[in-house]
Amino acid sequence: MKTSHQTPAFSADTSRGIYEGLKAQILDGTLRAGSFLPSTRAMAVDLAVSRTTISAVYDQLAAEGYVETHQGRRARVAQGASVSPVPKRAVRLEMGGPRALSAYGKKICEFLVEGPVSGHGADPQVIDFLYGALAFDDFPILAWRKAYSRALVQRQHRLYYEAPEGERMLREALAGYLRRARSLICHPDQVVIVHGSQQAIDLCARVLVDAKDRVLVEEPCYVMARRIFEAVGANVQEAPVDEQGLVSERLPERRSKLIYVTPSHQFPLGGVMPITRRKELLAWAERQQAWIVEDDYDGEFRYGMRPVDALQSVDDKGSVIYIGTFSKALSPQLRLGYLVLPDALVSVFREAKRLMDRHAPSLEQAALASLIVDGTYERHVRRCRRMNESRREALLRALDNHLPDAVEVMGSASGLHVVVWLLQVAKDDEAELVRVARKQGVGVRPISPLYASGDQHRARQCAGIILGYASLTPADIDEGVRRLVRAIQALG
Ligand SMILES: Cc1ncc(COP(=O)(O)O)c(C=O)c1O
Repeated sequence: MKTSHQTPAFSADTSRGIYEGLKAQILDGTLRAGSFLPSTRAMAVDLAVSRTTISAVYDQLAAEGYVETHQGRRARVAQGASVSPVPKRAVRLEMGGPRALSAYGKKICEFLVEGPVSGHGADPQVIDFLYGALAFDDFPILAWRKAYSRALVQRQHRLYYEAPEGERMLREALAGYLRRARSLICHPDQVVIVHGSQQAIDLCARVLVDAKDRVLVEEPCYVMARRIFEAVGANVQEAPVDEQGLVSERLPERRSKLIYVTPSHQFPLGGVMPITRRKELLAWAERQQAWIVEDDYDGEFRYGMRPVDALQSVDDKGSVIYIGTFSKALSPQLRLGYLVLPDALVSVFREAKRLMDRHAPSLEQAALASLIVDGTYERHVRRCRRMNESRREALLRALDNHLPDAVEVMGSASGLHVVVWLLQVAKDDEAELVRVARKQGVGVRPISPLYASGDQHRARQCAGIILGYASLTPADIDEGVRRLVRAIQALG
């Protein structure tokens, strides 16, 4: 069917801009109710556009109820069109009273930091040992594009929400992958696909933890996990860690609802829990009737030997909730991860996921499933492991060459980061070192904020930093360490 050709009201950027500008002024009260808008002729002259454009803008505003137009009269702002005479930004959050935040909201306020949190303004001049970042070139663009295109054209008879637990094909593929890579035996029905480990931990907190419940986390710990439990009002306590990870023999014999652990590569210190400790942890959880949340965030990256098996693989009581992610082997921007749940928890987690956001994006899940099924994903992981191994070697070599006898490195056997204790920098100078390093063109992160009790230096008097290396080339890594040396020297 042919339609008559009309000038579209808002096809041009200019008319859209004029419309937005006027609407914003009406909404924030700059143009008050009852006041006249300039005539279409005056406005057209002022803005150097045609009268037709202005008329179309006014008509649109009138159609939406912002202005009133009458034949032969100038348009004026409609009564009640202004929603908030006070700019929104000026509205302050109330801590008490009818508009008070929830207990959860108030907790979140305690975590707010000044300025941007992440993902903003990377400075290309800075060699940034940013933990969690991957090299753009490591992403398998071609394979992903193909798999995604295939997913896109797969026929569906309609577009509707999918199941909260995620695509069946991906859950089946994962069950196979986890058996091969992590010795983890599960049924696809135990798998729930989520938006990364972060959402998986959040679901655990919401579904399993009440305010005031005791939750144990490692000390030091992944802060974003700790905060999830604090935000729901849990009584969060620290469990001791040494170079072999969680010291399970020293867990308190008190009722605890849940313990959050990173057994395959303790975050951040890098310890790998030996089997005796794993068994002790499982026995403790059984005595306390506690859930164990196993965060296996980078278990695929173990160098020189086979990755250690998941804790879940030696759990015969159904206490372990296993969490995996695609953030380390593919991209943190995908926001895809998964839970492997004990049978008893499957239904409630599925429903909680549905209430939270229905389900993870289906196309990405389908693309990922086909990459796992055809073997591309595992080849990719092997390739990334080789690349990261050479980055890790470059870092250890550079530390050895440029800071001989001045550092102690922890956790280099696996993962994508190391902790470096700077034996000649006092612990009180840690924050200053990070600042000076930035000035020298190298980004490093201090270890102290990862300790809740702040007494990590009981045994150590020196500063510690976390160096993530997965986004850097070996040459940059070497240069970055040279700059770090200059920062240490500048500190005096
Ligand atoms: C210990 C640990 N757990 C979980 C995550 C978050 O992973 P995701 O991107 O899957 O939410 C990270 C991210 O760096 C991490 O270090």
